[in-house]
Amino acid sequence: MISHLPERRSVIDGCLAMNRLGINQGMSGNLSHRVEGGFLVTPTSMAYDAMTPDDIVEMGFDGTYLGNRRPSSEWRIHRDILRARPDVMVVLHAHPTFATALAVHGRGIPSFHYMVALAGGDSVRCAPYATFGTQELSDHALTALEGRLACLLANHGMIVLGASVQAALSLGVEIETLARQYLYAQQLGEPRILPPDEIARVAEKMRRMKYGQPVDDNDAPEDTARPRR
Ligand code: 13P
Repeated sequence: MISHLPERRSVIDGCLAMNRLGINQGMSGNLSHRVEGGFLVTPTSMAYDAMTPDDIVEMGFDGTYLGNRRPSSEWRIHRDILRARPDVMVVLHAHPTFATALAVHGRGIPSFHYMVALAGGDSVRCAPYATFGTQELSDHALTALEGRLACLLANHGMIVLGASVQAALSLGVEIETLARQYLYAQQLGEPRILPPDEIARVAEKMRRMKYGQPVDDNDAPEDTARPRR
């Protein structure tokens, strides 16, 4: 019997969704999901709408794999992030148009908007360029992701991390939206950047409110509206 069938299905659903949501196109990008003892990752160079659960590759942290397909060329990125970050279940890599437009200039996303805090800090960093599929690129990505759930990759694309496929997709859409807003805002000059202490305040409020996650009524923090009983 095939192992980790629900996770294999959610990897495929996540890939189809990233293209449908407009944060990726064609066969670009790849997606992984942590499973016991390792992770599942998309096969290299395969159209997402042709993928079946059997095509998803199971890998160990030692870089060995099981299955008939070769793993994504970026398996090192997935392996290294999942090994270093126990909080992360899903790694999504995509080539979204606006985020990539910034990344080809080696630019990240500064705190021009408070929603940048969703990625875990006061900026989304851009990792330096290295050839796709190399250990060097993975090392750069891991550094750019320190304390963050997202980064850009110079002349390449974006990585987002999540506790689930849904969380990674939704952060991916947020990052692409921020990149689009930042590029539009720059038409009028460099926008005002919110200072680190304001982003820290926003991050603390988001944490307390569980902002961006389905919230339990009984768990409402002090400064939110209260349900009528
Ligand atoms: P793979 O098809 O090997 O996953 O490559 C896609 C990609 O985006 C490489 O960065």
